[in-house]
Amino acid sequence: MLRCSCSGVFWLLVAANGASLNTTDVYENLYANHGYHADLRLSHASSILHLLQSVAGAFDRPVLDVGCSHGLAVEKLWKMDISAIGVDIAPTAVQKARTHREFRHSLCGEFPCFQVGTATTLPFPDKSLDAIFSTDVLEHLLPEEAPAMVTEFLRVTRKMLFLKIATTEEINKQPINALKMSNRTRYQELQALHTTVWPISKWASLFATKHRRLSVFSSGDTLAIWI
Ligand SMILES: *[C@@H]1O[C@H](CO)[C@@H](O)[C@H](O)[C@H]1NC(C)=O
Ligand SMILES: *[C@@H]1O[C@H](CO)[C@@H](O)[C@H](O)[C@H]1NC(C)=O
Repeated sequence: MLRCSCSGVFWLLVAANGASLNTTDVYENLYANHGYHADLRLSHASSILHLLQSVAGAFDRPVLDVGCSHGLAVEKLWKMDISAIGVDIAPTAVQKARTHREFRHSLCGEFPCFQVGTATTLPFPDKSLDAIFSTDVLEHLLPEEAPAMVTEFLRVTRKMLFLKIATTEEINKQPINALKMSNRTRYQELQALHTTVWPISKWASLFATKHRRLSVFSSGDTLAIWI
């Protein structure tokens, strides 16, 4: 398999036989047809939500959940009176968030509470948000997308980043197996959903070495970055 690293189409995997694998299609299909993140009460963001709550006094613009899925973490922040919004690569995930969450439009700033967006293409102006967080999302990027993600996160954020990143292969193979069963040709090239399995120190150095003025802390599987 050849991985295209042409700018702007990082997310398009080009297979040697000319077939292509499209990340939006992978996650859209998982959400729409294979019960991906079907439990609307499940979120792994609680440790990050506590971190955000402890520094919320520093925020006067929204915090953004990248890969917000069905929007539970954003709703939990609204319940703490913290201004928050979300983006997800899969339109069906965004639609679930819009359908199931108790909206607090006053806590979304000037932005849609939930919209489609990816870690490498965030639909926000420069420095329009105070913080970004994400939970078990960045390991789903392609390795060659990681530098563009760093640049994009720092472009839109003024103050802080809290990033929880899985550092091992996915344990639950059910989603990828269901996808492959649904169409063997289309998902032939898909080897894993955790496409970038790196130690947290490698993610930390990606931020620290590109932007030396940042303060980068890591603890377990979580990075906390002060801009
Ligand atoms: C990728 O998949 C999405 C969702 O199925 C589709 O809308 C989009 O056109 C696809 N992109 C390419 C380049 O095929
Ligand atoms: C499987 O995927 C290929 C490539 O996207 C598509 O042309 C074909 O129609 C799909 N087959 C089925 C049964 O959906």
